[in-house]
Formats: sequence, C-alpha cells, structure tokens
Amino acid sequence: MKKTVILFAAFLGIVACGESTRQVPANNPVSDPGKVTTNIGKELFMGNCAQCHALQKDMTGPMVSGVITRWNNDTTKLIAFVKNSQQVIQAGGDNSYEGQLYNKWYKTVMPNFGGLTDADIMLILHYCQEGGK
Ligand code: HEC
Repeated sequence: MKKTVILFAAFLGIVACGESTRQVPANNPVSDPGKVTTNIGKELFMGNCAQCHALQKDMTGPMVSGVITRWNNDTTKLIAFVKNSQQVIQAGGDNSYEGQLYNKWYKTVMPNFGGLTDADIMLILHYCQEGGK
C-alpha cells in the first residue's frame, strides 16, 4: 500500500513537470534576443521619456527618431547627456550642438536620469534611433 502511494506521488510529479514544460509558450521572447532588446528599450522609453519625447514629432523635447545619427554616433556623449544634460551642455558651450539645442528649446532643462545604467540608455537610444521599429 505504502509503495503504491509513493509510486502515485512520483507519477503526479512527472505529470506536473510535463505540464510546466508545456506551459512555456512556443514564441517565448527570451529565445529571441533582438525582440527582448526592442521591448526593454521601448518600456524604458515609455516609462521615463515619452512624457516629453515622441519618436516622430517635437513635443516638450525634440523628436528622437534618428538621434544617434544627429549626434554623429557619439553614444558616449549621448549617454552622458541623458544622465546629466546640463553638465554636457555647459562643457560644450553655446556653439556646440547641445548648446544650440538647449537654446532652441528655450532653455528647458531635461531631468537627469542618473539611475539608468549605460546599457539601459543604449537600449532606449537604439529604440529612438530606429523610430520605434
Ligand atoms: C521633462 C521633459 C523631458 C524628459 C522627461 C526627457 N527629456 Fe530628453 N530632452 C528634453 C528637452 C527639453 C531637450 C532639448 C535639450 C535641452 O533643452 O536640454 C531634450 C533633449 C534630448 C535629447 C537630444 C535630442 C536631439 O535632437 O539631439 C535626447 C537624446 C534626449 N533628450 C533623450 C531623453 C531620454 C532618453 C529620456 C528618458 C530617459 C528623456 N530625454 C527624457 C526634455 C525631456
């Protein structure tokens, strides 16, 4: 009798394992790293930036589609800008791209995003660069 109970429990265990494997969706996004990258960039953009930035039109801040190209692919500087825009603007001076941008945007100060990692910011920037694709 005891043996039967143990066997039955083991059988249930096997069935449960089978179930949990089957529950993983076939299109699990983790198996598609490209997709995950896009989604994280989008999520972070929506959560932190979208109240001021749109991909294809100016709002409180400039439209951000193609932004990496506008900064001549200088992602190091772009990351620094997102973390502390005023520091980059002051270092560049009035005649720099960022200085002129700041003046063009009526000296609206963009908030600092020191809490985002470089990797997070890169995901956001790529999402922006590609215009949300
Ligand atoms: C409160 C509004 C606001 C928020 C929120 C905001 N920005 Fe900005 N952003 C601006 C403004 C205004 C500018 C124009 C430059 C300036 O005035 O400093 C700007 C400029 C930029 C630029 C340069 C654009 C260009 O055309 O060269 C980038 C890149 C950028 N922001 C990225 C981000 C990212 C990434 C986030 C979210 C993590 C973000 N911004 C959140 C207001 C904002």
